[in-house]
Amino acid sequence: MPTVEYLNYEVLDDQGWDINDDDLFEKAAGEGFDEEDYGSLEVNQGEYILESAEAQGYDWPFSCRAGACANCAAIIKEGEIDMDMQQILSDEEVEDKNVRLTCIGSPATDEVKIVYNAKHLDYLQNRVI
Ligand code: FES
Repeated sequence: MPTVEYLNYEVLDDQGWDINDDDLFEKAAGEGFDEEDYGSLEVNQGEYILESAEAQGYDWPFSCRAGACANCAAIIKEGEIDMDMQQILSDEEVEDKNVRLTCIGSPATDEVKIVYNAKHLDYLQNRVI
């Protein structure tokens, strides 16, 4: 079963860390953050990452649940996530900035690392509803 290691963007921001840091997860592992902010999820085959987080009792951001806003956005730091049809992110955001929508995204590799709550990034703000 694929494992998704996650880190909350707000925590990263509070720490003064940069989304482009390569060692974000190494640093997070040593900080003793709350389970809600940093930890890992087992995601069933074909299950969406947002659903899996909710099934574990976490309260991740979302709105449309259909690939049409940026509320549920996450940034991939390692691994790959396949998305269903989405109409809100540019190719550049998906391919270069590694943005994915967790409401329509499932792991495509056994291990994935994401920064969730990425809606707080400046360039996504205009698509948060
Ligand atoms: S909640 Fe709107 S795209 Fe995921």
